[in-house]
Amino acid sequence: MPRKILVTSALPYANGSIHLGHLVEYIQTDIWVRYQKMAGHECWYVCADDTHGTPIMLSAEKEGITPEQLIARVHGEHARDFAGFGVAFDNYYSTHSAETRDCANEIYRRLKAAGLIETRTIEQYYDPVKQMFLPDRFIKGECPKCHAKDQYGDNCEACGAAYAPTDLIEPYSAVSGAKPELRASEHYFFKLSDPRCEAFLRQYTSHGNGALQPEAANKMQEWLGAAGENKLTDWDISRDAPYFGFEIPDAPGKYFYVWLDAPIGYMGSFKNLCARRGLDFDEFFQAGSTTELYHFIGKDILYFHALFWPAELAHAGYRTPTQIFAHGFLTVDGAKMSKSRGTFITAESYLNTGLNPEWLRYYYAAKLSATMEDIDLNLEDFVARVNADLVGKYVNIASRAAGFISKRFAGRLTVADADLPAIRAIREAAATVAELYEAREFSKAMREIMALADIANQYVDSVKPWELAKQEGKETELHAACTNALNLFRLLTILLKPVLPAVAARVETFLNIAPLAWADVGQLLAAGHQINAYEHLMTRVDAKLIEKLIEANKASLAPTPESHSPQRHGQQQQAAVAAASPWEPFCAIEEFNRIDLRVARIVKADHVDGADKLIRLTLELGAGEMRNVFAGIKSAYDPAALVGRLTVMVANLAPRKMKFGLSEGMVLAASDVDGQTPGLFLLAPDSGAIPGMRVK
Ligand code: MSP
Ligand code: ZN
Repeated sequence: MPRKILVTSALPYANGSIHLGHLVEYIQTDIWVRYQKMAGHECWYVCADDTHGTPIMLSAEKEGITPEQLIARVHGEHARDFAGFGVAFDNYYSTHSAETRDCANEIYRRLKAAGLIETRTIEQYYDPVKQMFLPDRFIKGECPKCHAKDQYGDNCEACGAAYAPTDLIEPYSAVSGAKPELRASEHYFFKLSDPRCEAFLRQYTSHGNGALQPEAANKMQEWLGAAGENKLTDWDISRDAPYFGFEIPDAPGKYFYVWLDAPIGYMGSFKNLCARRGLDFDEFFQAGSTTELYHFIGKDILYFHALFWPAELAHAGYRTPTQIFAHGFLTVDGAKMSKSRGTFITAESYLNTGLNPEWLRYYYAAKLSATMEDIDLNLEDFVARVNADLVGKYVNIASRAAGFISKRFAGRLTVADADLPAIRAIREAAATVAELYEAREFSKAMREIMALADIANQYVDSVKPWELAKQEGKETELHAACTNALNLFRLLTILLKPVLPAVAARVETFLNIAPLAWADVGQLLAAGHQINAYEHLMTRVDAKLIEKLIEANKASLAPTPESHSPQRHGQQQQAAVAAASPWEPFCAIEEFNRIDLRVARIVKADHVDGADKLIRLTLELGAGEMRNVFAGIKSAYDPAALVGRLTVMVANLAPRKMKFGLSEGMVLAASDVDGQTPGLFLLAPDSGAIPGMRVK
């Protein structure tokens, strides 16, 4: 009986590039979906960009574009990157859509009718410098549970705990570095602590229910607490303007928190697909649905998917997810991906460097299991494994047999030996491999398939077509040997097709056959079947490409010229600039140390009436320390573009009374002697610096 299955991967945020860490999830999901489709099930794979929230609003603001413009551009980039890696969504949509809005409003309405929405005035952190309420992610501080430093306001990356930002120890604003103040505001809550929710979640997350992996179910029991001890707290689902998201229907100025509408984006994307493909949305989402719903996610977002989302669905009268599949995090060469080491590798750079995306698909498959364990991309092992397995074992079988069929037998096959032990071995193992795919035990599946490829190669080695070809009167043996080899190759291709869809498509062309489905292991190629000329299927990984890849990702760190700056300086120009500014004589470190340089945030920048070179800057040096500085940078900067930026100032320059007022310091900028050509460049610290930090 064909099953009806809806599958999702987490919705990537619309303000960052897809990197190799993300791809663990999308490749894992895609392999699983491709397997289901090959097995003859009706399986739909939907995803979308997660477009709402303050980070996206602030990113757009920084770029000087609207959030709508930002998310449209990123959607194009994400869709391109996923397609490049063969991730074949049936729909790649956006949470900023009418469908998602409708679903969010409907869920909200139903939860409210069920008495599970409550408003409460709460005190929330407010950034007095940026003049906005701070989202959890923009408040940092020490985790109240494990005391790890610099953790986000919503959950701890070190211990996985979720909490309120007000629980953080020594909070600070990640936008301005300012100490946030508590301000009162009315918020909307989903009453997760309601006994109905608790009872539902205890059942839903139990080991017996089977919706969660054992490790995940354990974690949930911790979060729920022992029976009788309800540890669930109500979930704040609203945010105040300014915010980029959906306004709550009956609450002007209040918006749904991004994590409220993000999972609803799964529904929105599917609803959009239904309209285009004539599918019945309700059949998949109504309570009691007999269809299956699976969410692939990273272990970092388990709390949202295993508690909030099923509780929302259940109490709004929808079906709940059949299973939630969490995976671990990617490390590269045993360490967290790092921008400085060049191991924070973007999907785009991988493709642009000329690496074959199916090498990565295979490598991830060879590493993935059904657990939440982290997986490591070891670059040396990557080269060795792809070359040994895919080129050395798999492709090798075809390349050793195809030429003889083309040259000696006009591309026609003879009858294959269905009793050949190697052919029987693959056909018998296909059921095991299918079970391993179904169970997401991809590394075991790859091991099994490579063991079968070894058996196929042993067969080719034993019959030696290249020797038969040299001997007279061995035509029949040669024909049979090569026919068997190509049948072995075809069977292995079926087993690998979920992982290597592009190679499989080329094999289908070469073998002149219809797209392979799982059931095709039941047949062999017929005698007399005509194949096409063999074309190269896959090259070996050249280790030099890996070096190039690492370099490319280091290079992407180079500072990009600010949009206001004139063209990049040529070498000649650089020499001229240095020569025009004479070198100062040496100074002692003590002399240098007397100059107190500090990171400062420009909180205000104004034109100065009657001064054509000056801008009046209001600078914040952390802990409420403010300075007024007149800076001669008007020729290069528009005051409005400076607000919010970090720069470096001399904090202990003796104050100087000017015609326009007191100047209490100096900001640092690079320029030639006259500040005209090529221009003037305000210094800025690398991201992460905080106002008030000493510069030495
Ligand atoms: N927008 C949320 C998800 C909303 S789902 C309703 C989000 N986005 S994300 O872009 O940060 O991550 C998308 C997915 O990629 C998540 O499942 C996350 O766990 C996964 N990964 C991001 N970095 C990863 C690694 N380094 N390694 C493995 N998976 C990673 O979370
Ligand atoms: Zn912690």
